Amino acid sequence: MNQNAAETRIATLTQALREHNHRYYVLSAPTISDFEFDQLLKELEQLESDFPALADSNSPTKRVGGDITDQFETVAHRYPMMSLSNSYSQEEIVEFEERVRKLVTGDPEYVCELKYDGVAIGIRYEQGRLSRAVTRGDGQKGEDITANVKTIRTVPLQLQGKGWPADFEIRGEIFMPIPVFEALNKSREAAGEATYQNPRNTASGSLKQKDSALVAQRKLDTYLYALFGDDLPFGDHYASVVQAGDWGFKIPQPGQKMIRKCHSIDEIMEFINYWDKERANLPFEIDGIVIKVNQYSQQEQLGYTAKSPRWAIAYKFKAERVSTILREVTYQVGRTGAITPVANLEPVSLGGTTVKRASLHNADQIAKLDIREGDTVFVEKGGEIIPKIIGVDLSKRPPGTKPLEYITVCPECGTPLIRKEGEAQHYCPNESGCPPQIKGRMEHFIGRKAMDIDGLGEETIEQLFEAGLANNSADLYNLSYNQLMRLERMADKSVNNLLKGLEASKQIPFERVLFALGIRYVGETVAKKLARYFQTLDRLKVATVEELVAVDEIGGRIAESVVDFFSKEHHLEVVGRLREAGLQFEISEEQQALSTDRLEGATFVISGVFERHTRDELKQLIEQNGGKNVGSLSGKTAYLLAGDKMGPAKLAKAEKLGIKIIGEADFEAMIEG
Ligand code: IVH
Repeated sequence: MNQNAAETRIATLTQALREHNHRYYVLSAPTISDFEFDQLLKELEQLESDFPALADSNSPTKRVGGDITDQFETVAHRYPMMSLSNSYSQEEIVEFEERVRKLVTGDPEYVCELKYDGVAIGIRYEQGRLSRAVTRGDGQKGEDITANVKTIRTVPLQLQGKGWPADFEIRGEIFMPIPVFEALNKSREAAGEATYQNPRNTASGSLKQKDSALVAQRKLDTYLYALFGDDLPFGDHYASVVQAGDWGFKIPQPGQKMIRKCHSIDEIMEFINYWDKERANLPFEIDGIVIKVNQYSQQEQLGYTAKSPRWAIAYKFKAERVSTILREVTYQVGRTGAITPVANLEPVSLGGTTVKRASLHNADQIAKLDIREGDTVFVEKGGEIIPKIIGVDLSKRPPGTKPLEYITVCPECGTPLIRKEGEAQHYCPNESGCPPQIKGRMEHFIGRKAMDIDGLGEETIEQLFEAGLANNSADLYNLSYNQLMRLERMADKSVNNLLKGLEASKQIPFERVLFALGIRYVGETVAKKLARYFQTLDRLKVATVEELVAVDEIGGRIAESVVDFFSKEHHLEVVGRLREAGLQFEISEEQQALSTDRLEGATFVISGVFERHTRDELKQLIEQNGGKNVGSLSGKTAYLLAGDKMGPAKLAKAEKLGIKIIGEADFEAMIEG
């Protein structure tokens, strides 16, 4: 294809992908399948890599991220980002409405909206293109997080329709939908990682990531709620927001009662009371309702205080809170040995369910709240999230209670607990002798996302453990028909089913076997990364911390955990037996066919931005061809693979150390032989 034809095709694909993206993510009404969408996207990716000069920085291919921000730049807001005055009582809303009515000319009209509980963002569009996204910061200046915001699918990179001002800012809230938050926590739990506390903080933490590819995976979402600019085409807020929907933004839907024009205090109250109940059914968290004066001219009449507009007010919902008695604190031992304290409560009704237990997180949390058994505690539930204890009613503390003493030995096996420096959690170190850890590891191993063994569930694992037939995952592959038939509730059919399931699991790909091993902090995504990068267990087994952290997204904590895992004799023994049983410990032959030893033993440092490959791809190519990646230059580094925008200090250091500096083309020549 020549340059001209490519340009036309890129334009067509870009437009089509933009429309499909909008239909899928904003309107929830796709007209093509995911497969067809991916095909179009792949075609565009290929063309952009063949004709790099034609690749647009706002192309739909940029949604997957990849741009790295070393330091978020601080930028002054063109329009200060103010906050809202809050009220917790309906009387204050009545007062607000009366005040407005007195001060404006004519009858005021109000717009009621949801108060999304996320992170505020201001996004500037110039000539219809997203040019900059800035956080609220202190209201006067915020951080430029453009690369990260571009990965959010409901934020248009190029506006659709007509009539948008040449230069304007739109503001809204970025949040993590509750189902996304719950799935994320589930997978963290499966990886033995600490779970996140709530969707809001997780969204905020995600947006602070330096690697936008990580943000892309977080599936953040937005609602837009205000426009700012010198030449907005409408005279009121409602019309502007509705119009923004036609330009491709995700806006609250009047049909779903998420936004409403109101003309009286009764209508405002109706909206508040409706959402106070209905919010439990929303797939995202809100913490109140915002009431705004609709006409811009009336907004101007009312003006601003130092901190907030006089034309708007937030009504905050009270988090539902009850008090109950803490009967006892018990402790759970997870598969990685992590101890979780659990509050056992006098059952109490909260938000439509009966609450009997609440997580206490860790020893610090207990000490901070000074919770004691027998105390009356306040329990709160926000949205769908697990109930939490937020404090103690000291006036009801019975006499003679003592501060809670955190356990020092494992409640299951009696081994003294340890707590690593800088970690909040206590651990039971008796990996090979502590029953919940042994069973937990096997349960993790057989799980759906790991080895997915048909016919084997938690109950059977319990039975096998109790009968002394299985203590680790390798033992499962030694089970015989006769041994299994002797177990309760097992018959010919279920036994055969189980044996067949074990046999079938031998075809499960390496990345899932790696996940199934249950290495602490190695969740599904990390396992995939490691498998693709190291390709075989033999290579991974001998990788050093330095080699591991050279893989993108693998930090020191994960690296140390991997090295620690393979330094233990009993893990090596189990892995050896699993290999003998026939499990996959290498990536498939097709993928391996791409491997060579052309870079055997050579150490690389990658720096800067490249035209034809992402840094991740380059790292993978180095590994695939027998080379090694390290993070920083040293006397042992053979090559500095240098791209654009590499810092001058690095270059100088490489020159001083006599390291060979090569570009992308040199590198391609090296691996092509
Ligand atoms: S309007 C000048 N509308 O609440 C007022 N804010 O406490 C601009 N928020 O920083 C804000 N939902 O992050 C507005 N529908 C909504 C909102 C909303 C959530 C957040 C926003 C703001 C904070 C104010």
